[in-house]
Amino acid sequence: MRETGDDCTLVLIGALGDLARRKLYPALYRLAKDGLLAPRFTLVGVERSPQDDASYVKAIGEALASAADTGGPVDPAAFERLTRGARYVRGDLTDPALYSALCTTLDSVESATPVAARNRLFYMAIPPSLFLRVVEGLSSCGAAPRTHTAEEAQHGAWARLIIEKPFGRDAASARALNTALLNRFSEPQLYRIDHYLGKETVQNVLAFRFANAIFEPLWNRGSIAHVQITVAETVGVEGRGGYYEEAGVVRDMFQNHLMQLLATIAMEPPGTIDAAAVRDEKVKLLRAVRRYDGASIAENLALGQYGPGAIAGERVPGYAEEPSVKPDSRTPTYAALRVFVDNWRWEGVPFYLRSGKRLAERVSEIVVRFRRAPGVLWPVPAREEMRPNELVLRIQPDEGITLGFQAKRPGAALALSPEMELSPVRMRFSYEDDFGGEPVPAYETLLLDAMIGDATLFARSDEVEQAWAIVDPLVAAADAGPRPECYPAGTNGPRGGDALIARDGFSWHPLTLAARER
Ligand code: BG6
Repeated sequence: MRETGDDCTLVLIGALGDLARRKLYPALYRLAKDGLLAPRFTLVGVERSPQDDASYVKAIGEALASAADTGGPVDPAAFERLTRGARYVRGDLTDPALYSALCTTLDSVESATPVAARNRLFYMAIPPSLFLRVVEGLSSCGAAPRTHTAEEAQHGAWARLIIEKPFGRDAASARALNTALLNRFSEPQLYRIDHYLGKETVQNVLAFRFANAIFEPLWNRGSIAHVQITVAETVGVEGRGGYYEEAGVVRDMFQNHLMQLLATIAMEPPGTIDAAAVRDEKVKLLRAVRRYDGASIAENLALGQYGPGAIAGERVPGYAEEPSVKPDSRTPTYAALRVFVDNWRWEGVPFYLRSGKRLAERVSEIVVRFRRAPGVLWPVPAREEMRPNELVLRIQPDEGITLGFQAKRPGAALALSPEMELSPVRMRFSYEDDFGGEPVPAYETLLLDAMIGDATLFARSDEVEQAWAIVDPLVAAADAGPRPECYPAGTNGPRGGDALIARDGFSWHPLTLAARER
């Protein structure tokens, strides 16, 4: 059972933008459908295009009609619940007059509401270049007063701010952004979205690790040979060439999603499952990740850029031919990185992280490869055939967990080679089979958590800064380096990515099902 969100007004800044249309309205609609919006939930859209309240509601309807994840045709009652009393405020985010108009609208929305329910959730669905202007505007007109948790509890009404990545371009700009935000708001008011943390399967990594007793004793350098984290995509830059040219894969995926996955799989057990304890442990883990510079970067990082190729039988252009991308672009669309966590638990255990666009398959997963069983019972070559135990936490698609181990092939001799035949087999848990239906989309979880005031699945300022401190030298190397190795779209990525892991005597968990079953 999920808790209902608090009574609140959700101010969606960037109300008709791509994110709002594709992700936020569908998520809010589903919350409305599931009865998780509070009785006094009201939506206020802020955007520059000429609309009024009625045409704004119509635009939300259109967005829902074309969105993929509303779970079928739009239910009129849920739509009515979502848009009841919705208001639209038109204006330019750099103009102070907009913030006065917003305050007037908020006062009128809340006029009939008890003081204790005058909660405001501001969602910044806007380009980062506007963040600070908006923060300034909201704060100086008094729309979003600075509060502390104790005061919130005392006065009843809260103001929270949801921010979308990118949180800076590097460690220095991330720190500057945090400082500017913390001048106006307190940390508990800030909800920095990393949508990977909202994915059911990522949350389940914590449940898997800390609600089960059998794996945790093995979760260390004594039993684990290495860990792989893969976020492979088949999509290209999807019309976001301009953004991507500035970002590249390390900023776009590693600084946030991959570092969060690394922290989640490797952190120490927190004392409690709450925002402070979980985030403290993640920060500790990120602090322990070895920093690279100079030659060590070249040994531990491989980059690539997709060239033309085929995805699911369709020809697709190379990155350099995408709109708004320079033909001689040096932006990497693939990276593989080896990191070490220099703490007691993980000393010497490599973590291999890779992510890329236009790869052979869309797969996000964490693979924990255990050490081989002692080979004393089976001589070479049978011993070499024995695969180490492997735990695969599959984040998407086909969400689930698989444990691979050795079994004796029926009928074969148990006695020694050459007849002895072992075969790798799998035990599998599938979300779909056990729980049915689709996992709750990340934005739905995260919006509800922000309405409830649970920041566990949001990135804290020190987490963001630590993640930047890890990737900063890598992005600097990528920015300054030569054009990355080209890989044809629809393949497993550049040879350099395979070589990075092969040097340690390991190989990547295959991306495609066909290769896995081999
Ligand atoms: C976003 C990146 O944060 O995550 C995109 O900016 C990427 O480039 C996306 O495609 C991947 O998210 P998901 O949920 O589709 O795996």
